[in-house]
Order: sequence, then structure tokens, then C-alpha cells
Amino acid sequence: MSYDLAGNFNVARPLGAASLAKPALTCPITASIRYVEAIGARVVVPSAGPPCFLDEDLFPINMINGDELSIFPDQTEFIARLTRHGNNNAVMNIPGTAISVSPTDVRVQHCVSDEAVQRPFVHKREYLLEYQADWAEWLHDAKASWVVNNTNLVSELQAWWEPLLAMAPSLRASIGGNCLVKTEGENILIDFPNGKISTYNDEPIKFRMEIGRPLLEGVVRQKAVDWSNSLFLSCRFTAWRDGSYNEYLYNFFKSLSVERMRRAEQEVVRRNGISEKVSNEIELGGYVVQRYCPHRKADLSEFGVIEGDHVVCTLHGWKFQLSDGACLNADDHKLSVRKRTN
Ligand code: FES
Repeated sequence: MSYDLAGNFNVARPLGAASLAKPALTCPITASIRYVEAIGARVVVPSAGPPCFLDEDLFPINMINGDELSIFPDQTEFIARLTRHGNNNAVMNIPGTAISVSPTDVRVQHCVSDEAVQRPFVHKREYLLEYQADWAEWLHDAKASWVVNNTNLVSELQAWWEPLLAMAPSLRASIGGNCLVKTEGENILIDFPNGKISTYNDEPIKFRMEIGRPLLEGVVRQKAVDWSNSLFLSCRFTAWRDGSYNEYLYNFFKSLSVERMRRAEQEVVRRNGISEKVSNEIELGGYVVQRYCPHRKADLSEFGVIEGDHVVCTLHGWKFQLSDGACLNADDHKLSVRKRTN
């Protein structure tokens, strides 16, 4: 099994893979360990991560000592946690490592010395600083390309978002308050209750974001439909909220097109129990599957896909075995699934 810290895998399956019972797990590492156990992986190959933050602004997000406020541990941490779980099947690897897996054998060949394989992790700060120096010019040029045109953001967002807000009264009600977006020279109010965008004028707010003007103008210029991917993953913003996490606000920023907003609104309507009566089962790729995801009840007719031997709910990526509905993310969240018979 190869693993990246975003939760993607390639799997070397054993003969007769077994499922093991463990409590529900949520963070990427613990969820990954859960997958390893669920399929009884003979080989686990942590790969494709973590990201290295080379820009000075973001360098502190690198997890170097382990006590940083960071969600990006590296493969040594994953292997250590796997070992603590009693599993010693992980293979340390770097780009260029060759791993041969046969029914009887696992062979690992590095193209550099063992010391060189370990160096990025054992001397991580030094390694990252060298890496940063290599990319300094590129980073400088990339940041120089972030332009500010002094676009009138309020009027741009009015034209783009107000029609979307009008489509989503239930989503707006579930967000339940105003959001202030602050940027250099412009404070923008997203008035969710009334579905309006305006210049902020000291209205009460429930959420606040501060985003650098070049980046904000960039996503507005691109009409980026998913600000979660296009902006928030950059970690270049700050946020505040009054009260607990509101997933509807997050869904709003992921749904900035007509099609996406339609789905987001339907999902809220369904969750609020005011949708018309629909069947509790759907058909998915030759299988009859319960309509609502056991995780947070996403409608699998919208969010479900078949991937190999699994049903995947694309809302949060939970996986369920087609053979028996067992959930790879949590024991007590089985999905009802059967092969269609006619
Ligand atoms: S609702 Fe979260 S994975 Fe389905």
C-alpha cells in the first residue's frame, strides 16, 4: 500500500485480506492506519508528502521538531505511529527507491546510501533551507506575478455571487449570519441572511476572513468555483468565527458555480428534511446502495462513485466495501449495498 498524507493509497493486497475492528478514526494518519489494518496490507509505502513550505511566510508550517502548529507530519511520523500500532510493514522510501513485491518477498533498493535516504528527515531544517535556496528565485518570480488591479471587488462579487445566493435560501439560513471578508483597501460583507454583497459598514458578523488582495483578486479574476482548493489550501489567510465550525459556510465557498450551488442547496434541503419523499435506495454502477452516506448523510446519488471494490462518498472521501458494505473509516458506519439482480 502506498500512502500520501492527503489520504490516497495504492495497495499491495495480501491473499485473504482481513478486516480488523478498531474505533472510528478521523485524522489522515489514523484513518490511513485504519485502511492498512482493514486490508491487512503486507507492505505500506508512505509517499507523496508532506508538502514542503519553502516561502518564508509559510516556513513555520513545516513540521520540523514535532511541536509546531502544523497538520503536515512526514512519513517518519506515519511509520512511527504505525509501529506503535504493532505494524512493522512500512517501507521507508524516497524518489528513486525501487520496491519489488512478490507473493513471498518484498525487496527494497535505494539509489543512494541509507544515510542519504534518512537525511531529509534527520536533518530536516537544514534540508529544507537548502531546498528553499534552490527555489528562492522561482518563488520570488511567482510572487512578483501576483498582481493587484484594484478591481472593485464588491461589484465583481455582487454580479457573481448574488445570483448564487438567491439559489440557496436553505444554505444561507444554515450559515445563519454575516461574513466579513477583509482585504487591503476593501472590506466586503457577505450578508447571508439577505443574500447580498455590499461594502462592510459595521454590521454584526459571525465570521471574518482576512485575505491578501492579490490572492483575493486572483480567485475573483479566475472565477474559481472552489475557494477551498484555489485559495484556502494555500494557508495564506486568517479566519475568525463566533461559535462552532459551520460546514455550510465551507460548502458555500466550495460551490461558486450554478451547478455546484444547486447541489449544495439540495443537500441542505434534504438534510433539513423538507425535500419531497425519495427512495431510500439508489442504483450505482450495478449495485443497489442506501441513498444516504452513513458518515454525514450526503446523498450518494450526488456524491457516490464506484472505485474498484468500493463505494466512495466524495463529500469527505469515506469508503465502503462493495462486498459487504463495511466502512474503511469507521466500524459502526456500515453501508447497505447489494448487487442488482435484474
Ligand atoms: S458524508 Fe462524509 S463521506 Fe459521506
